Amino acid sequence: MTLIRRVQPSEPLPSEITPPEVFNRRRQLLAMAGVTPALAWGTAGHAQRVLPDKLQTQPSRFSVGETPTPYKDVTSYNNFYEFGTDKDDPARYAHTLKVRPWTVAVEGEVRKPRVFDIDELLRLSALEERVYRLRCVEGWSMVIPWVGYSLSELIRRVEPTGNAKFIEFTTLADPAQMPGVSSRVLDWPYVEGLRLDEANHPLTLLTLGLYGEVLPKQNGAPVRIVVPWKYGFKSGKSIVKIRFVEKQPISSWTRAIPREYGFYSNVNPQVNHPRWSQATERPIGSGSFLQRKRPTLMFNGYADQVASLYAGMDLRKFF
Ligand code: MTE
Repeated sequence: MTLIRRVQPSEPLPSEITPPEVFNRRRQLLAMAGVTPALAWGTAGHAQRVLPDKLQTQPSRFSVGETPTPYKDVTSYNNFYEFGTDKDDPARYAHTLKVRPWTVAVEGEVRKPRVFDIDELLRLSALEERVYRLRCVEGWSMVIPWVGYSLSELIRRVEPTGNAKFIEFTTLADPAQMPGVSSRVLDWPYVEGLRLDEANHPLTLLTLGLYGEVLPKQNGAPVRIVVPWKYGFKSGKSIVKIRFVEKQPISSWTRAIPREYGFYSNVNPQVNHPRWSQATERPIGSGSFLQRKRPTLMFNGYADQVASLYAGMDLRKFF
């Protein structure tokens, strides 16, 4: 993230090869979770190729009325440093990530600490399709039809205590599955945090899919957070732990370069990154290099919904 990197032509994703017994077991699990897997296809004598699993969703009142960025760009132009720092590294290398079994431990200042299995998370609440803008601190943006439900659905089930003022989430850091973790570009694991009221805001999405399918690995499978009014790096991928804490957590990017990446990281066209302007953004999409830049909106266009969270705060100081 410290450099703006060149775009490289995207590679097709290596298709998932799943042995039939694993495939059938997964169908059963998905059926239990209310998920309809897409049909498998293949020819006799070849391993079965499985299309991504479809999710049943309902539309959301929080969606923006903008045309989503093409699926190909959403899944081939990524930041996921655990798989490398080039934009096409995650699509190329994330196939090594194992997304089952997967659990998310919820702990700290809560009355009911729990470990959630990923299949439990898939059916904890009704899945919505939420078309959100995503603005990366590097100056590019996308519009993504995520699938998930408000993180508040999970939070209320664990009953935070009066001491819980922030949440800290930690993402997977397994060098055996993630080639980028052996580089010291960040202090792993990737850690991010939110104030409890931000985490409880209905826009904050516990995200399990995009484009009607389970999350592609390069986008943070099997579960990530999406906070649409903040720069993209606040939206941690492949999370394994959510901890409720009293003190403001130190996120990985703040720890690495505190002068450049603050705790709040709200999208703000008036507060520049120390090394570049944040006034405009480049929408990613076919031919986007020829595409005009467009102005970045305060809180990424979500000011009506979230500005009140920061009433009275100096957003230059709390950047
Ligand atoms: N989460 C982890 N674990 N590791 C990362 O490197 N990059 C962040 C964020 N979440 C990152 C991460 C950044 S900088 C951005 S812009 C978004 O993921 C990109 O999400 P996308 O690739 O799904 O668009």
